[in-house]
Amino acid sequence: MNDRIEHRAERVDAADKSSGRTRYLADLEFPDLLFALTLRSEKARAKILDIRLPGLPPGYWTVGATDVPGTNRVHMIGDDQPFFAEDRVNYIGEPILLLVGPEPEVLARLLAGIEVRYEELDPILTLAEAERGGKEPLYGSDNRFADYHLSKGDPEEAFRRAARVDSGEYSSGYQEHAYLEPQGMVGVYEEERISVFGSLQCPYYVKTALVQGLGWPEERVRVVHVPTGGAFGGKEDYPSLLAGHVAFAALKTRHPVRIVLDRREDIRVTTKRHPARIRLKTAVDANNRLLALEAEITLDGGAYAGLSEVVLQRGMFALPGVYAIPNVEVRARVLATNTVPTGAFRGFGSPQSFFALETHLDWLARRLGEEPLDFKQRHLLVRGDTTLTGGTLRQEVNLPELIEAACRLSGYREKASGAGLQSDGAYHGIGMSIFFHGCAFTGSGEKDKIKARVGLRKLADGRVEILVANTEMGQGPQTTLRKIVAAALDTDIRRIIYNDPDTARVPDSGPTVASRTVMIVGGLLEQAARELKARWQEQPELEVFKQYRQPPDVSWDQASFSGDAYPTYAWGVEVAEVKVDPVTFDISVTGAWGAFDVGRAIDTQIVRGQVEGGMAQGLGYATLEVMEQEQGALRQDTLTDYIIATSKDVPNFAHELVNTPYEHGPFGAKGAGELPFVGAAPAVAAAVQSALRLPVTRIPIRPETLHALTSGALASGALASGTGGSEEVGDED
Ligand code: MOS
Repeated sequence: MNDRIEHRAERVDAADKSSGRTRYLADLEFPDLLFALTLRSEKARAKILDIRLPGLPPGYWTVGATDVPGTNRVHMIGDDQPFFAEDRVNYIGEPILLLVGPEPEVLARLLAGIEVRYEELDPILTLAEAERGGKEPLYGSDNRFADYHLSKGDPEEAFRRAARVDSGEYSSGYQEHAYLEPQGMVGVYEEERISVFGSLQCPYYVKTALVQGLGWPEERVRVVHVPTGGAFGGKEDYPSLLAGHVAFAALKTRHPVRIVLDRREDIRVTTKRHPARIRLKTAVDANNRLLALEAEITLDGGAYAGLSEVVLQRGMFALPGVYAIPNVEVRARVLATNTVPTGAFRGFGSPQSFFALETHLDWLARRLGEEPLDFKQRHLLVRGDTTLTGGTLRQEVNLPELIEAACRLSGYREKASGAGLQSDGAYHGIGMSIFFHGCAFTGSGEKDKIKARVGLRKLADGRVEILVANTEMGQGPQTTLRKIVAAALDTDIRRIIYNDPDTARVPDSGPTVASRTVMIVGGLLEQAARELKARWQEQPELEVFKQYRQPPDVSWDQASFSGDAYPTYAWGVEVAEVKVDPVTFDISVTGAWGAFDVGRAIDTQIVRGQVEGGMAQGLGYATLEVMEQEQGALRQDTLTDYIIATSKDVPNFAHELVNTPYEHGPFGAKGAGELPFVGAAPAVAAAVQSALRLPVTRIPIRPETLHALTSGALASGALASGTGGSEEVGDED
């Protein structure tokens, strides 16, 4: 059975999705359905003085802050974002009110006729402005949504005795999720209850937000997941706001109300990956051994806190990467700016940190005259080592095996030695990243906040229904969770039922985030299935529930950030090969390889899909996906000018999975969804560093940046001579 579970199963949702039979939110029919359009702030920061509405025809309504019966704050962590602006707006696109009615064309005309008078206030638009102060703070007294400091060992002393110190500043931009299906939600008021149907990741997050917004008891609120066309973290928090909108509109109009965001609107107003600025400083001794790392992480949280503090925590705990560095100091903060709020996106803060760290160490090794892999290999973490937060790596850390596999697949060593200007007149390079992803919630999130509960229901006909709140959005749980239950019951996957979750029917097994679904929820389902199997003959119909219990050896103190930040880690190695055009500086990723330890793969084909999708999305993040903010507005707001990777931009990915079963995961599984994304950008950055022998400090890596860098280097003779001039470039110490 344990061997069989890895074998590819036919994906439960594949036939309906690929044939067009799946009904998404926009396809659902509701009697007397009304539509809603959103009046949004055109100002980055302003007081609303006055809103003048055109005359509304009969059957048309407005819905705004005064129609929120409970608390006009979207429940997240800090509860600072209003469902509808009250007297102030803090970012371009902030919702002010809804226009609701039967005809979308009429709504569009009415929306264009609304006049808002603002008193403009001085906005905080950049990290520098948020840090500098001098303007009225947007959050607290210092614009910091969160501000952390962690240290290990004695970094100060280590820097004093270092043989050399290197520093660098790394920046990364916004990333848009670009899910296939834009955000959408329908609210229905019926018999004093509100039901919301939506494209979303976290039914219970949405429900909790509605309970607070409506000020109603839980029994009167229900959230139903509808087949979701992609999410990547983008449907982790924004749906809670959107659900409030359709709920309040349904309550006021007594009609079902649907909002489906237009693509441009979706890009402009929903959360993005946090732009980051990360400063790193490393100390090495006379034997090129890493003594210390000092890091300062600054993330742009946008106008409201949302999930930013936990994104920052994951970003912080990603340092010092996969290396045993005895002395580390990390300062981390996320700042408030009058820009679109940033939030969850595959990797959740760790991609920014791994880009900075891996790129820095790659360049450091090159400056030391070492092959980066040799340098990194001397510092790899092993089982039993202590993490930044004082946790212990209890499971096998099979990085040597992963590196060996990635080298074998890619031909890394040989290609690395031939990197640079080649006979075809182009620059060729190859780079490697080594990384991890902490599986499931950070810190004590699973134990203290989520407290997942799952159920299985045996029906009289012998079929078994999975009762969880976790959602299929393309990543595979409709198949993987069924496989786990079927395998534990020793039955056929077709006898397992798993309906789209409805909070009126399923317990709160937690959100579908943090690479936790298979490991945590699947783990509980496996336990439930084993119990159900043992008790199978008791009754014709039977329910078994299981509640999360932390593995006994894991401990965490949230106040001091000490202990095991994650119950376990998934590990990865990625290699990218690039070709840089010597005239246009166009970067082509000509090869990509990887090796991953996700525990036992519950379905090799689904994990392969996650690997290929994650690497493709990461290559886009590394080289293509430019999103700039100017005066509080995003310049790229369509899929014509925000370019994501297509099949023409990505090479074939060859990769291997190293199956090391995790004792507390179902059939040995850990998390797999986010991991492959994390290492892609640093592998590409390292490849560009190897090709041009110039430091990369910013993603996406754009031809114009390379052109500017290489012009300088050519002038100084660095590029032509290979390693020669690189000592001077980007050296601050
Ligand atoms: Mo995710 S980025 O944990 O939805």
